[in-house]
Amino acid sequence: MKFNLADKVFTTVSEIIDKENKEAYIIGGWVRDLILNRHSKDVDIVVVGSGIELANKLAKKLDTAITVTVFKNFGTAMFKYQNIEYEFVGARRESYNRNSRNPIVEDGTLEDDLHRRDLTINALAISLQKNNFGELIDKFDAIKDIENKIIKTPTNPDITFSDDPLRMLRAIRFATQLNFNIEEKTLQAIKDNVQRISIITKERINDELNKIIISKKPSIGFLKLAETNLLEIIFPELYNLKGVEIVNNVGHKDNFFHTVQVLDNIAEKTDKLWLRWAALLHDIAKPITKKFINNAWTFHGHEMVGAKIISNIFNKMKMPTNENLKYIQKLVGLHLRPIILSSEEVTDAAVRRLIVEAGEDLDDLMTLCEADITSKNDEKVQRYMTNFKLVRQKIKELEEKDALRNWKSPISGEQIMAALNLQPSKTIGIIKEMIKDAILDGKIENNYTAAENYMYKLIQENNFII
Ligand code: CTP
Repeated sequence: MKFNLADKVFTTVSEIIDKENKEAYIIGGWVRDLILNRHSKDVDIVVVGSGIELANKLAKKLDTAITVTVFKNFGTAMFKYQNIEYEFVGARRESYNRNSRNPIVEDGTLEDDLHRRDLTINALAISLQKNNFGELIDKFDAIKDIENKIIKTPTNPDITFSDDPLRMLRAIRFATQLNFNIEEKTLQAIKDNVQRISIITKERINDELNKIIISKKPSIGFLKLAETNLLEIIFPELYNLKGVEIVNNVGHKDNFFHTVQVLDNIAEKTDKLWLRWAALLHDIAKPITKKFINNAWTFHGHEMVGAKIISNIFNKMKMPTNENLKYIQKLVGLHLRPIILSSEEVTDAAVRRLIVEAGEDLDDLMTLCEADITSKNDEKVQRYMTNFKLVRQKIKELEEKDALRNWKSPISGEQIMAALNLQPSKTIGIIKEMIKDAILDGKIENNYTAAENYMYKLIQENNFII
């Protein structure tokens, strides 16, 4: 297989190495993505010799304004040119120390370099030599694997994964992104090496998890993570959703399979990473709230408990605990509300409350709730969907009428104190809350005058001790 590489960077590399009688290759992800018709903006170039030297010479020839960044310790150099990142490294041979994924590196040949790579699909190279410019080098039959949609290591998977356990997650992540199968031996080696994942930093694990979550069909990855037992180590709370308990012949649904199905459903509607995380975590507290009462399974309060425990989970996983966490907590905490709403008569007051509580995240909450319907009973699904449509319609109507999103009380605590000549006290909070209820229940309009009049009415009618 030969590629027609017109890119000036590649032809210039070819000229440089030709003069110096050296070898250079495009290697790894960019080649894989070229064949798969994906668009990669990172190009790795391997030279048998010094990558830093090649980068400097190349930059000078291409454009003197290019800044080359050199990582001396790693023997690599990189620059950005026309929005693409090029990285240059000398071909290497690696050996590993048991306690670290950082290899001991020696200079090597192209062959050595290809042997140290994680997966066959990532061990492809394209020659930049003049005599076979653009020719694909496929030492491990990766093209066949791509055709057969197979993820496989180029050499003994036990060694590949034990050397660098992150590769187990990469294998599962690529299987998810590409919708490929993992070859049996490779899968078995993951199962055998799961404990090795402990030498990988949480940040790198999260990177891979996020890539799985943002894939077209994330369930592929999570099912593989569960099957190999990696999930139990890297995300035990999610793993604990697995399984069905049966008492008196009464079982509940397997909440792990339900959750990954919800994740797939939401993936069809949104690319927002954190909304997908909310889907992954929406039932996370089901195992700890589970009870068998009156011959039925209940998960009472799982949404509130879930919203609470997510911050511990995120802390432990070293996931970012900023506003993204708050957003997920809010969605998880509210995820039952639209369902309750839609199974009863949809009253204006209940919808108004939902609008105020969900605020700007209301659309995302509705998307989550719609994704949460995984029943196999078509009639039931239809009924929920129709009711959700009704809720959405009501939301639209009430929002147009009442301008409730990002609602703030039209009367402030200070204004109440001034009007009634009061000092700060609990009473102010109670009055404010009663005004809020009146607005949300549609008893009074959402403006200052209505709120003030209502406040005087409250004072007259209630025996507030003020
Ligand atoms: N590689 C490896 N083992 C790893 C990471 C990377 O062997 N743990 C090799 C693979 O050959 C890979 C190349 O280094 O193709 C470049 O790695 P990287 O840029 O991290 O990933 P890509 O494969 O390009 O893909 P992505 O950007 O999707 O991670």
